[in-house]
Amino acid sequence: MMPLRRDLRFALPADRACDWHRLGPHVTHFFNALSLLFPAGERFFMDSVRHYRDQITEPELKKQVLGFIGQEAMHTREHIEYNDLLEAAGLPAHLLDRRLTMFLDLNRKLLPASHQLAMTVALEHYTAMLAGLLLDDSSRIEGSVEGYAQMWTWHALEETEHKSVSYDVWNTVMKPGPVRYLIRTGTMLAVTVFFWLIVFDYHVRLLIRDRKRGHNLRGLWSVVKFLYGPKHGVFPGIAREWLRFFKPGFHPWDHDNRAHLARIDGLVAAVDAANAANPGALKKSRRGVRAAA
Ligand SMILES: [Fe+2]
Ligand SMILES: [Fe+2]
Repeated sequence: MMPLRRDLRFALPADRACDWHRLGPHVTHFFNALSLLFPAGERFFMDSVRHYRDQITEPELKKQVLGFIGQEAMHTREHIEYNDLLEAAGLPAHLLDRRLTMFLDLNRKLLPASHQLAMTVALEHYTAMLAGLLLDDSSRIEGSVEGYAQMWTWHALEETEHKSVSYDVWNTVMKPGPVRYLIRTGTMLAVTVFFWLIVFDYHVRLLIRDRKRGHNLRGLWSVVKFLYGPKHGVFPGIAREWLRFFKPGFHPWDHDNRAHLARIDGLVAAVDAANAANPGALKKSRRGVRAAA
């Protein structure tokens, strides 16, 4: 699997930043909370992998690392602009981004490079699990505002495409044995606690700041169902994949969902066609971004 850097731009209607998901603002803000994690998070991922680049001699993995960094750089750029739209809509996007940056900078200072790479491996498993969920059941995003749905689908596809890169780097640069296993799985437990605490905190803050949109029991119920519903809920949906990470011989491609990747070319064509048909929408979305700057 060779990750390719795809330089795509998305027309995100600024006036729908708080309400672009088919299921309404509550679910929209769950995705928005995740978006707030990407710029700081993905910079951390790129740096922790870059640190070990010189120790990788296998040409195929070297190329995959380049592709991984290229893809995460594009995701970072697009999520910065997406988050600027949230800021322009009156949400504390920049403040929450700064907080996460501070938290991750603290991790850079306190933890050895190996533990930082273990954090990336664990969080890349999270992005792969959540991406897989989005791609397995298109009803989780379909029917939402086009630009936002395309951007999340693009991100999910590329997270799937590069899901094993940081893990393969980890296995290459760390000595095999129980210590490697314990660092990887212990880090996953710690990352799980912090990741969901931060997502929950950011989600609630966005909902509180956007309360003018009329928070009601129906909206709340829709997000509870979206996250915890036994059939399609996010948490039940990732439980098995999360547990698989603890198998000593785990590899991200044990769960072979590469069939989804056949959708990439169609998506790229659809994004290009949408931008060509309505270049004004892309410009307008950029103007919204500049307003927040
Ligand atoms: Fe990404
Ligand atoms: Fe990633």
